[in-house]
Amino acid sequence: MDTQLSAQDAQQALRERMRFYRDLGISSFYRRPVDEALWGAPQPAPAAQAEATRTQATPPSAQPLIPDFQDHDMAPRKPFPAPPPIAPPTPADQHASALQIIRSEIGDCTRCALAQGRNQLVFGDGDPNARLFFVGEGPGADEDASGIPFVGKGGQLLNNMIGAMGLRRDQVYIANVVKCRPPANRTPEPDEAHTCSPYLFRQIDIVRPEVIVALGQTAVTYLMGEKRPLSAWRGAVHPFRGSKLIVTYHPAFLLRDPNQKKFAWADLQIAMRELGLKPPQKA
Ligand code: URA
Repeated sequence: MDTQLSAQDAQQALRERMRFYRDLGISSFYRRPVDEALWGAPQPAPAAQAEATRTQATPPSAQPLIPDFQDHDMAPRKPFPAPPPIAPPTPADQHASALQIIRSEIGDCTRCALAQGRNQLVFGDGDPNARLFFVGEGPGADEDASGIPFVGKGGQLLNNMIGAMGLRRDQVYIANVVKCRPPANRTPEPDEAHTCSPYLFRQIDIVRPEVIVALGQTAVTYLMGEKRPLSAWRGAVHPFRGSKLIVTYHPAFLLRDPNQKKFAWADLQIAMRELGLKPPQKA
């Protein structure tokens, strides 16, 4: 059996690894660990060896290869577009119809390249008057097939997280930064996110939740219009369009690393405190 990674597999492995680290909130990488993990220890050419001896004062592990990988992975250096102005409140009994109007405006959308690969557009799901609004990244295969956000394995975990807060899924609202599935579940490109996120902002303005929980790096980046490691956002309450924004890990990350669930639970407890919710009592 051929045990060599093809260049494509290696690129995919690197992307996965970057995504994993990004979810952890690690934003700096160093040549040696990343390269060695993928390719094995480098064999320096003789000229490079001489150079290495000359520069020995600086340990190789302190030389950043990618100063901030998010610049390469997710967003350009271009400034984020200004968010749309906050819409005036919609009367509570008109939230559902106002959301329906946005859905009709979006129509059979072809505003970005994601339209080409999607089966169903995934608008959002839940209570139009919810006090709590979850924002994910974008639909995956199950969501693309069903038209409903967070119905796959990540969705089952999200349902459990909502249940742990003492709520039912139909009591919250759930939507994503982009409404169409990115090919092979890649991170949405900045132009795709910027094209789609104004609709998310309008959904948020209509629902007017007291608390928004951003699930993962893409969600918080495009909500706040600013790139920072997840660790810089977590553990605090951020004012956002009249709501309180709390940031936690994406369920897909928690499925890959269940040890992090306790930290996500700590984040959700901040949301519960802001909503005045008590953890459900065990029977
Ligand atoms: N991941 C997301 O970010 N959103 C979904 O709807 C499903 C998976």
